[in-house]
Amino acid sequence: MGFAGCFQCGFVFLFSALDAAFAQIIYSVQEEVNKGTIVGNLAKDLNINVHDFEYRMFEIVPGSNKKYFDLNLKTGVLFVREKIDREELCLSNPKCSLNIEAIAKNPHNLYRVEIKILDINDNAPHFPVKSFSVNITENASPGERFLLPVAEDSDYGGNSLKEYKLSQNEHFTIETQNGEQSVFAELVLNKALDREKQATVKLVLTGVDGGKPPKSGTVNIIINVMDINDNNPVFSQALYKIKLKENVASGTKVISVFASDLDEGINGEIVYSFVGHGKKQDLFTILPTTGEIIVNGNVDYEENPAIELRVQARDKGNSPKSTHSKILIEVLDENDNAPEIIMISLLNSVKEDTKSGTAVALVTVADKDGGKNCIVHCALKGSYPFKLEPSYKNHYSLVVDGPLDRESVSQYNITITATDEGTPALSNSSIIIVHISDINDNAPYFATPVINAYISENGQAGGLVTKVTADDSDTGENAELSYSLLESSISIIPITSLININSLTGEIFSLQSFNHEEIKRFQFQVIATDSGVPPLSSNVTVNVFILDDNDNSPFFRSESVSAHRYCLSVSHLFTEPHWFDSS
Ligand SMILES: *[C@@H]1O[C@H](CO)[C@@H](O)[C@H](O)[C@H]1NC(C)=O
Ligand SMILES: *[C@@H]1O[C@H](CO)[C@@H](O)[C@H](O)[C@H]1NC(C)=O
Ligand SMILES: *[C@@H]1O[C@H](CO)[C@@H](O)[C@H](O)[C@H]1NC(C)=O
Ligand SMILES: *[C@@H]1O[C@H](CO)[C@@H](O)[C@H](O)[C@H]1NC(C)=O
Repeated sequence: MGFAGCFQCGFVFLFSALDAAFAQIIYSVQEEVNKGTIVGNLAKDLNINVHDFEYRMFEIVPGSNKKYFDLNLKTGVLFVREKIDREELCLSNPKCSLNIEAIAKNPHNLYRVEIKILDINDNAPHFPVKSFSVNITENASPGERFLLPVAEDSDYGGNSLKEYKLSQNEHFTIETQNGEQSVFAELVLNKALDREKQATVKLVLTGVDGGKPPKSGTVNIIINVMDINDNNPVFSQALYKIKLKENVASGTKVISVFASDLDEGINGEIVYSFVGHGKKQDLFTILPTTGEIIVNGNVDYEENPAIELRVQARDKGNSPKSTHSKILIEVLDENDNAPEIIMISLLNSVKEDTKSGTAVALVTVADKDGGKNCIVHCALKGSYPFKLEPSYKNHYSLVVDGPLDRESVSQYNITITATDEGTPALSNSSIIIVHISDINDNAPYFATPVINAYISENGQAGGLVTKVTADDSDTGENAELSYSLLESSISIIPITSLININSLTGEIFSLQSFNHEEIKRFQFQVIATDSGVPPLSSNVTVNVFILDDNDNSPFFRSESVSAHRYCLSVSHLFTEPHWFDSS
């Protein structure tokens, strides 16, 4: 523009008065200069002598920016009367000028002066807010962009906002862009975020203008790193080992497991549970929020001496993450089981002649408990001709340990006791019945060594003479007896011609009628034999007396004579001397 040149050379434009034309003078002055700063020499530029200028009483028309400017009549100089703020006058209008009208009274004349207000860098860029937050999820990808607030600078042109700077940091950079109205910046993520490492990133954004020297303004940028469920819960231990007594009451606390999760909010809230459902898990309950495990059934060492539980910790995130841990429960034994006794008989019955040392039965003891509670001692209660002989651990043989005699004891009820080493000790007992079987060790026997029988003379043949009976202490065949007459090799007439015997019953019958006058008495032996192998036998002597009927006339005789006579009369039957009785 040529105006600046005019001003410099004091050139004046003159226009016709009709056209409301005035001599137009254009000056320029920087804003914010001090009061008194000379804008231009109006007298000189109007080509008016300084004396005339005073004489003509120049003045600025009130209302035409008289506030800002004034004239020195003595020098003809137009000067600044009050500080001018370009931005206040013109806001952001890049062209800012003030018009003044100078009036001369003598002769009357009006001059128009335009004063361009030149910008100085008197304004720093500034942001509409002091701080600005941005929410960015921690899984945002590098390269993602985020809007930043725009800085404003009231200055014009080269003094206006030129660029942005971001404080030094590891994650972000900015890119400045020139829009139509303004210069703005975008925040660019360069390196991935991790909320668990840094939950907030504090940055300072600086807007810098193009002044010389440049001015700047700042805003705090607060980046809230928003959580993503990107962390698994972690158990405080990969394996929890505990000991628990068996038979503890339901509701007893066993242990508390604990898992932590670095995430925030529901992403870090944990729910505990057992993995899988089995008998063993059902013995316990896990509280979902606290991880406390309590007994919920009968913990039995004998069923489960060791229990392994698997637990899960799971967060409540939208795509939940979970982790596992193990709990090993060693169940401690209580002496809650009595020993058991198992017996196996080797023989249905034991013969009474069985030798000492012969095994009769096998005895096994067992105890479901553990440790000392299952160390079992086994013994016989009472005294028997038997003893327990240990074979190997918890196994015994019941062996014969003394003479047996069925005829005195035919059955032993043997009590076996088993006692463990628990405190207090538990015991159990069992009875084994040992039957003693017979051998033929007893001969038959007659109650008396001699049996006397009395029969009438003249009896019928076939009459019962007497009955002999023997006993036998054995049983069965060993006690089955048969009777027979013992033939004497030296008798004159066979006894079997006089009597016979029922071998089963022992009844003896006559085979003829006897006459007292001929035979007063005779004697023989009966032998009883059992059916044992080999058989045993014994004998008895039977005397048969023939009683007198009154079938003859009385006659006289002395005792000694008749005794003699009878002795003679029967002597033909027996070789041995026999006594007789005539009564
Ligand atoms: C950022 O997140 C917080 C919490 O979720 C929310 O209160 C706030 O309004 C969010 N701010 C912006 C700018 O989205
Ligand atoms: C004793 O032993 C028997 C058999 O061995 C068994 O059945 C029983 O339960 C035991 N008694 C006790 C009290 O345990
Ligand atoms: C042995 O036990 C049986 C039954 O088992 C019983 O009848 C008998 O009386 C018992 N004997 C003794 C001596 O206890
Ligand atoms: C009869 O028994 C006696 C005594 O027991 C015995 O001495 C005798 O030998 C027996 N006689 C015969 C023939 O067996």
